[in-house]
Amino acid sequence: MPYSSKNSTPHSIKPLKYLSFKFPGFGRKYLSAISILAIFSLCYISSFPAVILHPWHIDAVSTAARNELDTNISHILFGISGSAKTWRRRRHYSDLWWRRNCTRGFVWLDEAPQGAPEKWPETSPPYKISGDTARFKYTCWYGSRSAVRIARIVKESFDLGLGDVRWFVMGDDDTVFFTHNLVSVLRKYDHRQMYYIGGISESVEQDVVHSYTMGYGGGGFAFSRPLAAALVRILDRCIDRYAAFYGSDQKIGACISEIGVPLTKEVGFHQMDIRGNPFGLLSAHPLAPLVSLHHLDYLQPLFRDTNRVASIKKLMTPYEFDPSRLLQHSFCYDLTRNWSISISWGYNLQLYPFILSAQDLSTPLQTFLTWSWRKGPFTFNTRLMSLNPCERPLEFRFHGIDEVEGGFTSTSYTRDQSEFRRKCDKLNYKAAYLLKAFNVTAGLLHPQYWNKAPSRECCQIMSGSPRENDVVGVKIRGCNQWESISIP
Ligand SMILES: *[C@@H]1O[C@H](CO)[C@@H](O)[C@H](O)[C@H]1NC(C)=O
Ligand SMILES: *[C@@H]1O[C@H](CO)[C@@H](O)[C@H](O)[C@H]1NC(C)=O
Ligand SMILES: *[C@@H]1O[C@H](CO)[C@@H](O)[C@H](O)[C@H]1NC(C)=O
Ligand SMILES: *[C@@H]1O[C@H](CO)[C@@H](O)[C@H](O)[C@H]1NC(C)=O
Repeated sequence: MPYSSKNSTPHSIKPLKYLSFKFPGFGRKYLSAISILAIFSLCYISSFPAVILHPWHIDAVSTAARNELDTNISHILFGISGSAKTWRRRRHYSDLWWRRNCTRGFVWLDEAPQGAPEKWPETSPPYKISGDTARFKYTCWYGSRSAVRIARIVKESFDLGLGDVRWFVMGDDDTVFFTHNLVSVLRKYDHRQMYYIGGISESVEQDVVHSYTMGYGGGGFAFSRPLAAALVRILDRCIDRYAAFYGSDQKIGACISEIGVPLTKEVGFHQMDIRGNPFGLLSAHPLAPLVSLHHLDYLQPLFRDTNRVASIKKLMTPYEFDPSRLLQHSFCYDLTRNWSISISWGYNLQLYPFILSAQDLSTPLQTFLTWSWRKGPFTFNTRLMSLNPCERPLEFRFHGIDEVEGGFTSTSYTRDQSEFRRKCDKLNYKAAYLLKAFNVTAGLLHPQYWNKAPSRECCQIMSGSPRENDVVGVKIRGCNQWESISIP
């Protein structure tokens, strides 16, 4: 059993349309009985089959019913850029997050795909063929004209005139969206005002060449409807004005600068303009929900024992239990053993058998290079990954997740034996090598968490001395008053 202990597939659960169940209360005894029941709508069920029933789900239902203002997945229209030739190869990424009858949108192709429409996969977003762009100027000698077609996706999406669209979200065919978290992020903003939301490149060299002030297309970006309306009015002529610009996202960024709306940066959008192993970056995620991942074909798989697509599937398992918590970073010390433990929830746990400062623990290890294969710089600080085995963390990768009664999950992380062949002979490392796994419990993270002042959650080591017990328990919890990660 590789990871999920739930073994549920998206469609194995009877689609029960939840609307106005009246439960007498939500004490522990109801939890397991109700947890397979559908809550929210049909759409929600097929996205989150394994979701655990917790009081906040109910709050969310009644809040949604009360408040029409709450943005949900139906208010988003996705515009995915694709091409007929590459779709078969790349669709695996879209298929991971696309939910039929739930997510709305289209993948925009340059021409009709072979065998379509009959052979178009049911698991993929429906496709549309982009309009002809031969009349537009494109003068960037090192780029591709397809940038014009892709820049116009927002206009073609807008012109479909679909009802009840609050946000237009653009992405590439190799972008993986974590839609629940995308909704959490967009919900923070008033869709009736003009917003342009996304993230920039991780590699400074890319930001210098393209822009620091545009949303990068692969990480995905969102326009509120009023901004989309303003943009489509000027877009076609604007595309000609910026004919020399390389990418579609750069053209869009330039056109929006004419409207005067700045990019609202959200750090959960990941362009992933890096090469090598994303481990360091994703193990020290900033305090924000994980919204997207991109460029996965250019990076090592997230989990060493499996391929790229299966790695994302594996990551989707903890995501389905507790979307807000995915990759959330927490770290703590075990002062009886002088250990520092760093957890990226649902992805990995690192054990340093010595005390490392909070400043270091919160800084990504540089396990990657820039997009043009340089050592840096990045738009964030990094720490060097030492080649000395006596300075490296022991890596434990996410193994499985279980529901624990009372709205908690337990995730397990097992030692990655292949991680680094050279071993450290020091006593502190020798003791640490004996550990087989960590077992981390955590309460479900309420999506409302993101509307409050950000503050990292605390953790504490619960059990297990290496000699008697090779599984160590860790608990992630809210911090106590005055609690801080300070070395005594
Ligand atoms: C989203 O909210 C609208 C009301 O604004 C509602 O009609 C629709 O059913 C909701 N969709 C989901 C998936 O909850
Ligand atoms: C989606 O909706 C269509 C039409 O309403 C229906 O035939 C189909 O079974 C639905 N698919 C899923 C996966 O729910
Ligand atoms: C932990 O480190 C402190 C300070 O270096 C040292 O005094 C103490 O003996 C160490 N404890 C263990 C269990 O190694
Ligand atoms: C992890 O901890 C939970 C809660 O304490 C427990 O139910 C579960 O059995 C533990 N799993 C392992 C592998 O020790």
